[in-house]
Amino acid sequence: MTVGGIGEVCASVGASKGRKMTTKTCDAIVIGGGPGGYVCAIRLAQLGQNVVCVEKEEVGGVCLNWGCIPSKALISTAHAWERTRAGAAMGIRTEGATLDAGAMQDWKNGIVKKLTGGIRQLFKANKVQLVMGTARVVGPTAVEVTLPDGSKEQYEAGKAIVVATGATTIEIPSLPFDGKQVIRPREAVGLREVPKRLCVIGGGVIGMELGTVFHKLGSELTIVEALPQLLTGIDPECTQVVERKLTRSGAKVMKSAKALGYEKQSDGSLLLKVQVGDKTETVACDTLLVSVGMRPNGKGVGLVEVGVKVDERGFVPTDAEGRTNVPTIFAIGDVSSMPMLAHKASKEGEVVAEVIAGRKAAKDWTAIPGAIFTEPEIGSAGLTADQAKERGYEVAVGKFPFAALGKAMAIGETDGFVKVVTDKKTRRILGVHIVGPSATDLISEGMLAIEMGAVADDLALTMHPHPTLGEAMMEAAAHSLGHAIHMMNR
Ligand code: NAI
Repeated sequence: MTVGGIGEVCASVGASKGRKMTTKTCDAIVIGGGPGGYVCAIRLAQLGQNVVCVEKEEVGGVCLNWGCIPSKALISTAHAWERTRAGAAMGIRTEGATLDAGAMQDWKNGIVKKLTGGIRQLFKANKVQLVMGTARVVGPTAVEVTLPDGSKEQYEAGKAIVVATGATTIEIPSLPFDGKQVIRPREAVGLREVPKRLCVIGGGVIGMELGTVFHKLGSELTIVEALPQLLTGIDPECTQVVERKLTRSGAKVMKSAKALGYEKQSDGSLLLKVQVGDKTETVACDTLLVSVGMRPNGKGVGLVEVGVKVDERGFVPTDAEGRTNVPTIFAIGDVSSMPMLAHKASKEGEVVAEVIAGRKAAKDWTAIPGAIFTEPEIGSAGLTADQAKERGYEVAVGKFPFAALGKAMAIGETDGFVKVVTDKKTRRILGVHIVGPSATDLISEGMLAIEMGAVADDLALTMHPHPTLGEAMMEAAAHSLGHAIHMMNR
């Protein structure tokens, strides 16, 4: 199945009578239509390349169809529902309000449909040829595609193949998915009923985001995390704010607790066994969401067979240009390296497209932003204070709490803070860490500051509109310099 007029830019060769397979040629073949692959394909087309993008499920990949976007739609619904119920203090009375989880799903599906349709339109407009099928690399520039009807097509790329095959949810052997009670994140975002008792295994990004959604919508929630901290890798002061809020609202958080397996009870519920130290505890629940990470899809696409190095975890290592050890084969996004983030995949896609088109480009980011949609949100960029110290910096930290900010009070969301980490000697901003309302939007200012090599004075002296949440950024930077206005300085 092809979309976008395959004949327009790909020439068919060897299509003589009697031959089962024809070979179609183009400049570049992108395998995978997620945020890495589709962005790469569009950029290649913008740069004048004839490009084919092969996708086996749906354009937009996991992010758009079962990950980032659906979860954000559910998160915003859960947030609105929570605000509605807590609105009495603001004078909003909503006795009798009900939640229709099915309607919520329909609304979410509508958003996904609009976005995937948008990508198809962009493909058409840019003359990217979308081939719906499963691709396999069969040579340094050759790809075979199995179409949904089982027939095969052969493609030959004049310049390059880009592997953007993403990653797959990890399954714990003792907790096999059944799609009903023991579910993957992609099934959780499609639930048309709110589970009564939900247990989430893995207090990472997905577990915390989706666990919070269903807790807000009414589930009794238990989070089971093997490590001593939730959201490992994030500034611990930020994660503490999130954990406190979650436990205060009645959720149970088990840390240093490893999920072992479960037993089905006679009433149909599940009893999860959890190892905590040398003890085994149990958690009774109706639904188990297992979100213990993703495995890169580097194996099973023919890469090893054509000589591309794939590491034991399934990652496909690349150089700064995104090139694998086979010069005509590139890899981007989750399949190439951590962190598995859509925005990092897209940027890699742009770099690789430029390289293939003969321009000078390289992956050379100063920082990769983190955006976690918990309650409250977390936005992070650059180094934490501890990471900066480990790298030999003498560090100054400025911090401003949302509780001291008029706008945060006006919207009734005062938990959290903005923290700015600077190099004491040069005042250069090394990191920005935000936990609080709209942290995931606010972090872009921190990213720009870090990318531009800004000093704390740049943020502190820039006039920020009042009353806005962004003022917390200005105040935190001023605090690092000892002259915040709306709080005491050291
Ligand atoms: P993750 O790696 O963030 O977290 C998985 C957690 O499961 C870890 O903390 C790990 O210690 C824990 N774990 C592993 N085995 C366990 C066991 N037997 N019992 C209890 N805990 C166990 O993985 P997650 O949340 O599945 O996310 C996958 C990827 O998707 C991540 O790389 C993440 O960056 C990305 N993602 C990012 C989002 C964002 O930035 N907003 C949103 C969703 C996904």
